[in-house]
Amino acid sequence: MSLATADFTFLRELVANHSGQSLAARHAAVLEQRLTSVAGSVGLPNVASLVQRLRCSDDADLSAQVAEAVAVHETSFFRDASVFATIADRVLPQIIAKNSDRKQLRIWCAACSCGQEAYSMAMLIRDHFADLDDWDIRITASDLSQTMIRRAERGTYSALETTRGLPPQKRIRHFDRRGTAWRAKPELRERIQFHRINLLRPWPYLGPFDLVLLRNVLLYFNSPTKQNILKRLRGAMRPDGYLFIGAAETLIGLCVPYQRKEIDDTVHYRPAAI
Ligand SMILES: C[S@@+](CC[C@H](N)C(=O)[O-])C[C@H]1O[C@@H](n2cnc3c(N)ncnc32)[C@H](O)[C@@H]1O
Repeated sequence: MSLATADFTFLRELVANHSGQSLAARHAAVLEQRLTSVAGSVGLPNVASLVQRLRCSDDADLSAQVAEAVAVHETSFFRDASVFATIADRVLPQIIAKNSDRKQLRIWCAACSCGQEAYSMAMLIRDHFADLDDWDIRITASDLSQTMIRRAERGTYSALETTRGLPPQKRIRHFDRRGTAWRAKPELRERIQFHRINLLRPWPYLGPFDLVLLRNVLLYFNSPTKQNILKRLRGAMRPDGYLFIGAAETLIGLCVPYQRKEIDDTVHYRPAAI
């Protein structure tokens, strides 16, 4: 592994501009490893040639491929189970009581990776709130990566992926077996709308959202980027909406219009007056 310093600096800026992810020098080896396959996929012999092509052209697709190859897509069903328990027991009952006149529920899983978070929400609603059949319920699931969004849209997971957080009885109830894999049943897939959205760029107006899950992505951004995204996100939420971020993430130290709240051992944020 021998990524030249100038090439690493160029790639670091490209990734920061495209996805907001901050790369440190210690990421150079992983970066070169991941980009070797991107180089191969476009017929180039190595990462140095890939950098050369990116320097000499304005190839937005190739830049996107580079940023996506570097992103971490780690996820699982019902990740951080206590968050889903709080949403089922405390948050959704309040939202449902409040929205009972308009019978509408809007949820956004921003940065959903290959979809387990959005399917977890859809399962949770079916299992805990079966009497909402006449409600207009929409789960929006989005990610930077086109590859992840396509996977999420298919809703098909390997047996190994389903062992990560999905209890066997839920797998039987909500998924159909497809050979060695499992596909989410149509009633789950129909409830979710998938979009490719880069949180750094303006996003289409899809709200207003009652509940937003923006989990395990803020940690890759620097403070100005986090602030910018969180301020714009507030405009996409209902004034009395709920925001959950990742267990390892915090808004402490950021100048953003949210109030921190705790329920049991979970933390969430509510929009604050600006
Ligand atoms: C670690 S996964 C988190 C998945 C899920 N939210 C969870 O908590 O399990 C982070 C995801 O953020 C996405 N991502 C990174 N930068 C992004 C950006 N600028 N806009 C939208 N999504 C982004 C990545 O593609 C990746 O799928």
